[in-house]
Amino acid sequence: MLSDLQEIERLKKEKNAIILAHNYQTGDIQEIADFVGDSLELCIKASEIDESDIVVFCGVDFMAETAAILNPNKKILIPDTQAKCPMACMLNAKDVKKFKKMYPDTAAVLYVNTLAEAKAEAEILCTSSNAVKVVESIPQEKILFGPDRNLAWYVSKKVNKEIIPMPSQGYCYVHKLFDLGDLHFLRSKYHDAEILVHPECDPEVQNFADNVLSTGGMIHHVARSPKKTFIICTEVDMVTRLKRENPDKTFIPALNDAICENMKLYTIGNVKNCLLTGEYVVEVDKNIAEKAKVAIKRMIEVSK
Ligand code: 13P
Ligand code: SF4
Repeated sequence: MLSDLQEIERLKKEKNAIILAHNYQTGDIQEIADFVGDSLELCIKASEIDESDIVVFCGVDFMAETAAILNPNKKILIPDTQAKCPMACMLNAKDVKKFKKMYPDTAAVLYVNTLAEAKAEAEILCTSSNAVKVVESIPQEKILFGPDRNLAWYVSKKVNKEIIPMPSQGYCYVHKLFDLGDLHFLRSKYHDAEILVHPECDPEVQNFADNVLSTGGMIHHVARSPKKTFIICTEVDMVTRLKRENPDKTFIPALNDAICENMKLYTIGNVKNCLLTGEYVVEVDKNIAEKAKVAIKRMIEVSK
């Protein structure tokens, strides 16, 4: 009898499927994936899929929806329909329209962590790795930016434009958990360590960092850095990926409890089931998808 992992490999070949996984997936899922990356890398990868008929997307639903929008003729599957990003749910299309009415001379730059209906109202999308470049690429001087207030703060420090957070208090419950007290303690314990912080963390945590980076940015930075020890302020399985790729370096999660429960709904068992049954198919309303695709493609163009 085949093990679950062997069965997944067999099913991938039989169904001409690939598995894409976000950096926050557990180690076993990272290992069976054909590609592991941050949200921009996954978006670009999704835009380049040509040979596979099926994509099993191991990331929260907005990531899988983006892949579905970019590939209307392919089957995009997720292993669990409850894998939603709570921050994405903090901004709907109605809110974006309301803000646009309140601030008529602005452009709406939306984080990829949004509902498809909100994406459809955006001028352009961004991720944490390209937010500054995206905001600088558009002519408007006033920007509606959402839903993450901390990423909006990060961008506002880097650009010479007015950034209006939309909504005023959007946040990620995982990155809100990091706290300055813990970082002071870790710095005193590991003097030589470099502190890497995700821009979804609070401003005082970002200010304490040696570098503020997306998850993909952390991977590239660590590979180039002469440092040997790193304190990682983002979801705990980021450390799993960093350790896998840098066995000679030491990674300390700033908080072991920084777990995105939504990302963790995927298991080897439900990935196998997803390939076996063809469930669950990610579908996005055609009209919404067409509008959202314009904003997604603009972002990909700027990121090249
Ligand atoms: P990255 O784009 O850095 O992978 O971030 C995605 C995310 O959801 C962070 O919480
Ligand atoms: Fe959403 Fe936060 Fe989970 Fe990222 S870590 S998917 S922003 S809830």
